[in-house]
Amino acid sequence: MGWLCALAESHAERDDRRDGPLDGEQDLSYPPPYVMPRRPLSMILALGRNGALGRDGKLPWSHPEDRAHFERTTRGHAVIMGRRTWEEEGSPLPDRVNVVISRSFARPSDEASVLVARTLDEALALAWEVDDAPFVIGGARLFAEAMPFVTRIFLTEIPETPDADVFFELDRTDFSVVDERTGEGGLRYLVLERDG
Ligand SMILES: NC(=O)c1ccc[n+]([C@@H]2O[C@H](COP(=O)([O-])OP(=O)(O)OC[C@H]3O[C@@H](n4cnc5c(N)ncnc54)[C@H](OP(=O)(O)O)[C@@H]3O)[C@@H](O)[C@H]2O)c1
Repeated sequence: MGWLCALAESHAERDDRRDGPLDGEQDLSYPPPYVMPRRPLSMILALGRNGALGRDGKLPWSHPEDRAHFERTTRGHAVIMGRRTWEEEGSPLPDRVNVVISRSFARPSDEASVLVARTLDEALALAWEVDDAPFVIGGARLFAEAMPFVTRIFLTEIPETPDADVFFELDRTDFSVVDERTGEGGLRYLVLERDG
């Protein structure tokens, strides 16, 4: 039985180490304290004071400067969007890989820059295949579903409370502002990064 006791003791000792290192010992905790790093994923959105995001399939305001900011920021990247946002755009965003999430939409065969995904997981896999730092560009359901994976947020605060039929409540917990500036008409452009 001696060998069995020795084996039990060595297991017990290993179990002790799972609770933390003994005095003066190297930390051999198991499993190792390793957290999978998040892959870069940005979200870009403009929000009214009341959380307004859209109305009648369009933006509930007209701010060309914000549109220029969107163009500048997303150019050269993969952009992931819901089917209604795709319809609002009307054509593929140039110089970007357009990943449209839809269960009903069929990819136009003549548009090499348009990919269709059935789920967010599928869209992320497609986007990360072609771009290290893709963008989620809306709408509301997609923003909500993508939020846990987002590492950076480009937010434009629109100083208006327009009528809207699509709203989004941005949860800034776990994010800190790393850049901000004021633009035309009092628009605020913020960049937020996930803490930690
Ligand atoms: N203010 C902003 O920054 C901003 C940004 C983007 C859009 N918008 C506005 O928001 C409005 C559109 O947003 P929305 O929320 O109504 O629509 P949306 O997200 O653009 O599109 C919704 C459709 O996308 C597909 N879809 C989205 N998420 C999916 C998921 N996780 N899995 C499977 N399919 C998914 C479904 O298409 P199927 O029905 O085909 O399956 C769904 O019906 C417009 O008014 C637009 O102007 C505003």
